[in-house]
Amino acid sequence: MQIYLVGGAVRDSLLGREVKENDWVIVGATPEQMIELGFKPVGKDFPVFLHPKTNEEYALARTERKQGRGYKGFVFHTGIDVTLEEDLKRRDLTINAIAQDDDGNIIDPYNGQKDLKNKIFRHVSKAFIEDPLRVIRVARFAAKLPEFNLHPDTLHMMQEISASNEIEALEPQRVWKEIARALNEEVPSRFFEYLELCDALKILFPELEEVEIAIKRLAYAASLGLRPEVLWAALLYHTDSYHIKLIDQRLNTPKKYHEIAYLSHESCPIWANIENNNAEEYLQWLKMVDAFRRPERFKILLEVCKYCEECNGILKAEKCDEVYESANQITAEPFVKQGLKGLEIGKAIDKARIEAISKIL
Ligand code: CTP
Repeated sequence: MQIYLVGGAVRDSLLGREVKENDWVIVGATPEQMIELGFKPVGKDFPVFLHPKTNEEYALARTERKQGRGYKGFVFHTGIDVTLEEDLKRRDLTINAIAQDDDGNIIDPYNGQKDLKNKIFRHVSKAFIEDPLRVIRVARFAAKLPEFNLHPDTLHMMQEISASNEIEALEPQRVWKEIARALNEEVPSRFFEYLELCDALKILFPELEEVEIAIKRLAYAASLGLRPEVLWAALLYHTDSYHIKLIDQRLNTPKKYHEIAYLSHESCPIWANIENNNAEEYLQWLKMVDAFRRPERFKILLEVCKYCEECNGILKAEKCDEVYESANQITAEPFVKQGLKGLEIGKAIDKARIEAISKIL
């Protein structure tokens, strides 16, 4: 039996990037041998095992063929006769189809290193078309490796996948996983640009309004280093709440993402004139957004304001943060010491907070 490192680990180490996860392929072994060696079988769909010590994934070399619609429509073949070249051939991109043996030798039958050097995303074989998730994966790689470009034949295949209705059959959690990862990559806007380029954006997000402006806003938010859930809200800024809800329900987006998208919508009219607020109005607003009890969420709300370039969002957010910090310094303690009770304490805190905010304004 031979063991090879494959996929993202080889790609990223050849690119001089940090390797996050090792995937291994085993040629010439049976599942029984793997179990005898102490590997734990996982996943009912693939012959994948976990290493007894490192817990890393080891997959038996396999070939696969698509026979039905959707993710479950694959037929696999594993066996001691499946070669490394055959296993690499069913993979998505040439840059992901490079293997490395124990001695560090590179096995690269589909010229992945050449494509790494020329910065090209190119499919390995016609089998690319059999897995619709690859459209979304390639878009994510575009966000991860922004200096890479798509080979025209691969683009053509991605467009064919989009036209085939297969994207609709993908499991929502697999789609969301890719989106969330893309929002954490170097240039997240490229993910959406690539989806648009291969006609998949309108399939995945038919509700998204003002697509071009939305992607630009996301790009601007990303350039400010804002967190992924705020980038998501930036993308949905031009889409109304009803349609955001449809997207959330379909993709089952985590709460922290959809909460911020709605918050952004609710807050927008208030942000528009916030600089005209007097101290009392500022305090009212801080209470309304629950800033004193939920400071972490409030800081995210400030980030949401920042991506509104056309209304000087950064300046407004800085000002609001200053206002919040000054008001937040006022606590109940001194008033309790003075002997105030119940509602009186609340009133005294409000008064002191208004005074503190007035000093800043
Ligand atoms: N792969 C594939 N088609 C898919 C998913 C995975 O061909 N739909 C292959 C690719 O060879 C890929 C490898 O399986 O490199 C491992 O997949 P995964 O861990 O999902 O991605 P990585 O390429 O390792 O990328 P990342 O570093 O972003 O995790």
